Amino acid sequence: MTVVEAVRWSGEGDAVEIIDQRQLPNELVRRELRTVDDVCDAILTLSVRGAPAIGIAGAMGLVVALSRLTEDTREQFIAAAEALCDRIGGVRPTAVNLPWAMERMCGIARTTPGRPREILDALRAGATAILEEDRAMCRRIGEHGVELIPEMASVLTHCNAGALATGGIGTALAPIYLAKEQGKRVHVFANETRPLLQGSRLTAWELTQAGIDVTVLADGMAASLMRGGAIDLVIVGADRIAANGDVANKIGTYALALAARYHDIPFYVAAPKSTVDVKTASGCDITIEHRDGDELREWNGRLLMPAKASVYNPAFDVTPAELITAIITDDGVVRPPYAFGASGNSADAGG
Ligand code: MRU
Repeated sequence: MTVVEAVRWSGEGDAVEIIDQRQLPNELVRRELRTVDDVCDAILTLSVRGAPAIGIAGAMGLVVALSRLTEDTREQFIAAAEALCDRIGGVRPTAVNLPWAMERMCGIARTTPGRPREILDALRAGATAILEEDRAMCRRIGEHGVELIPEMASVLTHCNAGALATGGIGTALAPIYLAKEQGKRVHVFANETRPLLQGSRLTAWELTQAGIDVTVLADGMAASLMRGGAIDLVIVGADRIAANGDVANKIGTYALALAARYHDIPFYVAAPKSTVDVKTASGCDITIEHRDGDELREWNGRLLMPAKASVYNPAFDVTPAELITAIITDDGVVRPPYAFGASGNSADAGG
């Protein structure tokens, strides 16, 4: 099974190497990020995207950006690290993994004793740990989630919550990869995911690379497929999970959850602990990123609507916890009532 590496250190370790996801599926282009501007631009333009992957890229990007600085004193170096963490952590507001990773890196900078050289070494080790932990969490999500997939199954997913979005085999796609490994017969329906087509460009690409059958749907088609009995279960990823189990994920997820509930189809969310934000009480408290209207207005420089028409372009929506059958975390499958962070809940390490 071929699973791509979305984010890694360059051969020399002096850059973050990403797959430029804007170019897929036409070209597999790797891009090296060497400065804080490169890192912020790559995250903002979705060259690197997906909640865990932007956290990883942000943490690794901090290291390469700091390695170019010439601050002599410990205090100057820590102040520079804090400023860079703030800047990188604020590029996209919805996925909690990005500020989570940057806060973790800031903590390492503040608490590591010694001169800038030692702090930088500790930060490099910290960024590598975030990458490796994510890889392991993806695998564990897959191990827990695969139990929910029958021997023969049609699974619907939205956006891309696969290897391209993480440091490992993905979140929503991890159970699917493991089902394939175990010889289960899985067919994936991938919602196209307007406006930037993460489903058709990215999910369909990585699944075909891995030899998994995939059928792409335009976003509005899912409900009628469900009505026809073609979908056994839905699995999506998450950008932020509030303490009460409300989930922010790619715009269109909420509509899918409503359709799944109407048709009595299980609706699962798969996410690592780093996506659970116990400091956010409910979905109402999640900041939703609104993106440039041109993403919807144009394609390849050509207008798709009258130039004067207004555009509504939130990148994410919130699915209320009551529509979610279960949340598949690296610690196990959590079922309602959700109370992340409360004692007894298995996934309380976020935030
Ligand atoms: O705007 P994107 O492409 O970064 O949105 C990504 C998603 O909504 C994913 O479903 C989510 O980040 C989970 S990725 C494991």
